[in-house]
Amino acid sequence: MTALLAFDDEAALARALGAALGITPQFVARHRFPDGETRLTLPAVLPPQVVLLRGLQQPNEKLVELLLAAAGARELGARHLTLVAPYLAYMRQDMAFHPGEVVSQRHVGALLAGAFDTVVTVDPHLHRVASLDEVLPGRCGIALSAAPLLGEWIASRIEQPVLIGPDEEAAQWVQAAARAHGFAAGVGRKHRRGDRDVAIELPPLALDGRAVVLLDDVASTGHTLAVAAREALAHGAASVDVAVTHALFVGDAVASLHAAGVRHVWSTDCVPHASNVVSVAPLLAAALRAAADGR
Ligand code: R5P
Repeated sequence: MTALLAFDDEAALARALGAALGITPQFVARHRFPDGETRLTLPAVLPPQVVLLRGLQQPNEKLVELLLAAAGARELGARHLTLVAPYLAYMRQDMAFHPGEVVSQRHVGALLAGAFDTVVTVDPHLHRVASLDEVLPGRCGIALSAAPLLGEWIASRIEQPVLIGPDEEAAQWVQAAARAHGFAAGVGRKHRRGDRDVAIELPPLALDGRAVVLLDDVASTGHTLAVAAREALAHGAASVDVAVTHALFVGDAVASLHAAGVRHVWSTDCVPHASNVVSVAPLLAAALRAAADGR
């Protein structure tokens, strides 16, 4: 028997995942004390196999809660603890870009590896490391991709789109989404000068009169996609739509995309957002089943 634990701000994905697994999710109760500390309450008795669903968008507070929940779950009976973090935070800070910078990817990975036996995630931003296992020393990392699902969604909406990733790092997702449908595809080159200051060179594809879809793993401020959209329209694109796995969309990100000429903004439900159109619940459920069968 497996228990599926989740937090109430991710109830929709928890229910969808529970339905796909045939398990009713149980919710972790949170009480926030006036001084900012948190009390978590888990089911009083847990089976040996426990899956905890927690996306790590806006991660800082959630990381503390996760450590408490994991330790508590083990005290209450869990022997094998799986974290399903559809969005895995801190993966982009994967080297010291300047002397003295802390390589957050390594340390957040070590922290999660200390608490969980298995970590399942979707399209983690692994650029300079080969696999999620490398980020989780001694533990099992399962990295799934939503790119084929986004590719299916795009194919159902747009005839013969040109799929563009804003930078080289997006090549893996663009290829995975384009492959099954034979979309024209390419990736641009990004020059980042600051959090909200990027320049993009688009790939040398004929965009005149074409429907362009920009595909990326994550949109945060939306600047990367807004700049790419402006470039595509300046190169004659008839329309620009956007598809991302992780809809972080901080502040006015979505409005800034529309202001840049973007028509539709589509995302998966890895991060709950109004733009969610594709559910990763079946993908997560299949991976959890396969992992359980393999143990
Ligand atoms: C980084 O390379 C990622 O793939 C995204 O392109 C980036 O995080 C998007 O950030 P923003 O939306 O703030 O431009």
